Amino acid sequence: MYRSHNCGELRIDHVGCNVTLAGWVQKARKMGGISFIDIRDRYGITELRVDETSPASVTEVAAGLGREFVIQASGVVEERQSKNDKLETGDIEIRLTGLKVLNAAQTPPFTIEDVSDGGEELRAKYRYLDLRRNPLKKSLMLRHKMAVEVRNYLDRQGFLEIETPFLIKSTPEGARDFVVPSRMNPGEFYALPQSPQTFKQLLMVSGFDRYFQIAKCFRDEDLRADRQPEFTQIDCEMSFVEQEDVLNLFEGMMRHLFKEVNGVDIAPKLPRMSWFEAMDRYGSDKPDIRFGMEINEVTDLVQEKGFSVFDSVPYVGAVTVPGAAEYTRKQLDELTDWVKRPQVGAKGLIYIKVSSDGIKSSIDKFFSPEELGAVAGKAGASAGDLVLVLCGQKRKTQTQLGVLRIEMGNRLGLRDPKVFAPLWVVDFPLLEWDDETNRFYAMHHPFTAPKPEHLDLFYSDRKEDLERVCANAYDFVLNGTELGGGSIRIHEAAVQQRMFDVLGISREDADYKFGFIINAFKFGAPPHGGLAFGFDRVCALFGGQETIRDFIAFPKNNVGRDVMLDAPSRIDDVQMDELYLKSTAPLQK
Ligand code: AMO
Repeated sequence: MYRSHNCGELRIDHVGCNVTLAGWVQKARKMGGISFIDIRDRYGITELRVDETSPASVTEVAAGLGREFVIQASGVVEERQSKNDKLETGDIEIRLTGLKVLNAAQTPPFTIEDVSDGGEELRAKYRYLDLRRNPLKKSLMLRHKMAVEVRNYLDRQGFLEIETPFLIKSTPEGARDFVVPSRMNPGEFYALPQSPQTFKQLLMVSGFDRYFQIAKCFRDEDLRADRQPEFTQIDCEMSFVEQEDVLNLFEGMMRHLFKEVNGVDIAPKLPRMSWFEAMDRYGSDKPDIRFGMEINEVTDLVQEKGFSVFDSVPYVGAVTVPGAAEYTRKQLDELTDWVKRPQVGAKGLIYIKVSSDGIKSSIDKFFSPEELGAVAGKAGASAGDLVLVLCGQKRKTQTQLGVLRIEMGNRLGLRDPKVFAPLWVVDFPLLEWDDETNRFYAMHHPFTAPKPEHLDLFYSDRKEDLERVCANAYDFVLNGTELGGGSIRIHEAAVQQRMFDVLGISREDADYKFGFIINAFKFGAPPHGGLAFGFDRVCALFGGQETIRDFIAFPKNNVGRDVMLDAPSRIDDVQMDELYLKSTAPLQK
């Protein structure tokens, strides 16, 4: 037997017991004739004591210990003289009668402490050591608890967990596919699933009317704090449901998770906001409603006053930053540079400072104090506030104001990670026009159904009509992050075909790529709908963070590399030949 207890378990009640622990040396220190060794495992830390009463063999082994050695320690539990209330085992220590090194360790490249001295790159290279640290350990424990509770809830609701394959044909979620060459089918490739979308719909055709899966998904897209090339979804689909049924059931799941995992009660009925309202008020389809600072349109108050910048655009909007009227010239210049960065993309920033003795702005020359007062009033500003104004094309400007609003919310400390403000964003447009490629794209994905009351518009050939078609599509949004999304699906072959036509996908191409699903719809497909939550994102936000990397045991870095494995990597010529591949990439380092 390696151990009788774990390192987080012993309490004052155990005093007098003979115990054996196994774990890693967190640290060892000597005070006079006594040595203290902290032994650590997944469960906690326990102090071991070696003193003049210890056998010589113990003293000898203790003298040779280093950080992260794996040891087995036996002894008697005793009450500590100086207690440590930061440790759960802080009331006791173990006076050692036996000590054995199970495995020596090299000095770790960084300290295994809550706050480590190792840089990100170094810790990524030794991820298995980083995972020994408490913050990461806690993240993975939270993830486990979350998966258990997801399964508990969905199982109770009659959902079946069904696995779907990884080696498939392209799924249209809008990102690039990762592809896998097939040795047995020369020149042909599988795609890794961007989501199990088509399979879960086929499972509905098969009659499994409530499906879920905690599913790995793969997307070759640009990475951000909340995006990984390989990530996990809580993927769900249901038959014979309307939007309301799906929203209620998954609101229930999130309520269950908040309660069981975080001990938080969320509102009995979550707010719902249409996509249009979210864009108009927050400049984002994933609004952070923990704080105000909403966007207000002021176009009609500022046009035809002789300021050509405003006269030449269709939209002028403002956000009010409370208590920021004291911003200095330097701070405003810095903010102007900030909105001009390509990530925001504004051409410039106009400000109006409201104070008890008047109004000052960067456009004083063109507007009277009354006119500026009216703008400030519409933007909801009062004395002491700063109004920031952007202008341009409507949705683009709203989006820029939305990004600025979040930045100012961060700067003012209004985005408390311990406050949870979930909501549903609903009524998304079905289609999105892209000027560059001169075609429509599905805003969610091409299996999303138009709202039944918009079917006439959906069959129109006019671009303006198609732009007005809304979908029964919905996103679950928490604190400015899209945690999940889904829709009621098309279940009729003819409507699905029409969707591919609208998207400019030729009949031949649609048949080649999606023939199987159009066909399946001809064999009695039930009305169905569903959604998928980004599991990594749910875990991160529940853990009070926006970066998902630390909630994934072995994540990729920001250019999609696994630094520990040094992957991706080249494969040898024999393997290339077997797969009928030839690389045209320049040789790297
Ligand atoms: P969607 O593409 O909106 O929908 O994805 C669902 C959720 O998955 C998460 N997510 C990601 N998380 C981490 N890294 C990524 N690269 C990444 N991409 C997406 C987000 C997102 O809300 N098949 C549909 C769902 C459906 O219609 O049922 C789908 O995949 O949290």
